[in-house]
Amino acid sequence: MKIARFGRIGFILAAAGSAVGLGNIWKFPYITGEYGGGAFVLIYMVTVVLIGVSVMMAEMLIGYMGRMDTVSSFEKLAPAKKHLWKFGGFQALAGLFVMTFYSVVIGWIFHYIATSLSTLPSSVKEAETVFSAMLHQGFWTQLFYHTLSFGIITYVLTRGIKGGIEKLNLVLMPSLVLILLGMCLYALTLDTFAKSVDFMFTSDFSKIDSNAFAVAVGHAFFTLSLGMGAIMTYAASMEKNANIVTNTLWVVFLDTFIAILAGLVLFTFLFEYGSGPAKGPGLVFISLPAAFFEMGVLGNFFAVLFFLALAFAGLTSAVSLTEPMVQYFIDRFSWSRLKASLSMGLFFYLVGVVVILSNIKETKEYLTWGSKSLFDWIDFVTASIMLPLGGLIMALFIGFAVEKSRVASVMQPHLGFTFELWYFTLRYVTPLAMVVVMVNLYMEFFK
Ligand code: PFF
Repeated sequence: MKIARFGRIGFILAAAGSAVGLGNIWKFPYITGEYGGGAFVLIYMVTVVLIGVSVMMAEMLIGYMGRMDTVSSFEKLAPAKKHLWKFGGFQALAGLFVMTFYSVVIGWIFHYIATSLSTLPSSVKEAETVFSAMLHQGFWTQLFYHTLSFGIITYVLTRGIKGGIEKLNLVLMPSLVLILLGMCLYALTLDTFAKSVDFMFTSDFSKIDSNAFAVAVGHAFFTLSLGMGAIMTYAASMEKNANIVTNTLWVVFLDTFIAILAGLVLFTFLFEYGSGPAKGPGLVFISLPAAFFEMGVLGNFFAVLFFLALAFAGLTSAVSLTEPMVQYFIDRFSWSRLKASLSMGLFFYLVGVVVILSNIKETKEYLTWGSKSLFDWIDFVTASIMLPLGGLIMALFIGFAVEKSRVASVMQPHLGFTFELWYFTLRYVTPLAMVVVMVNLYMEFFK
């Protein structure tokens, strides 16, 4: 039974806090770099508008009408075949799996906040050595910060929707926006800002192939927190008579705005002080610290602020990745919030330790299968299989399993004449796109 509900702003900030995460500030810039900039950004934005918005409305709707944990919500809305459809609710498990590495990465960020205060690497080469030493030899460092991350996330979850999740987002989200805007103001004074705009918005389609397309669609889903039960679980605590359409548009706007803002700032710094639009996951942990070094003392200040913003973004998403399974055990097994939060926290904490070990020199070979590390496998299974599958199931569920009149009674007043368009997208466009994406990502992984 739910008692505490989000306020209107509280809900929008919490859902945006879920959406704005490591995906926006860490992953978006580096995959944009990898796939050549503007053309990739364009495909990503078109996907967000055409598919992301529709699926987010569907996911919010399921939570809003179901009012319970993800599994119960599916059951409640499709009584005819509830034993089948309830499996749709187990998309919440994906969030918990993602948490096993998400918490480790948040740990790296904490470590970088602490070290950026005093030292920054003087070259990209040195930055590479520092990062690689942490990743491959720094077991205790990673463990320490992963433990800190686990502690904060679990504590917030034990405080519940109002006293924990809403409060966290009310403080961290505005702080995050302020930090990024402040850094953007500084970036605006540099000549390379125009180059950065050019890089992100001028389309060069030569680097776009079907894989780039699948990566863009996959990322659109990940960054909007779709297909893992996070938005659904938060929506179960949305206030009565909430407007799902405007709430969705706010969340999508904030998520896209922050991704673009972060991209512009990072690329400006990398063009001005660093080695250009670096590719790959090292962008934030390797190229950027080296660029900050070139800025002198101001660089230390910016580095700390930047990693703080990244930590804020990560924490608000992490809480939303874990909450769906917490809610599941509370609703289905009558566990106390304390017990559910601690158990889920311990799960991602312990598997997270194995994820750390999978990168450590001495233990690596025992945790590698088919040349892919545990980290790669978890990322593959969650982002390439579970997430598109979750999107597919939700689209089919609202499109075919729940009575149309029921769906229309909530959505028609807000969507007006665009209702039919939305419904059509869910029934045919989204499922097709999801299948294409899954096949592509699958083939790429095993290439
Ligand atoms: N949207 C988050 C990010 O961009 O990092 C990640 C995420 C959070 C994905 C919650 C899925 C989710 F349910």
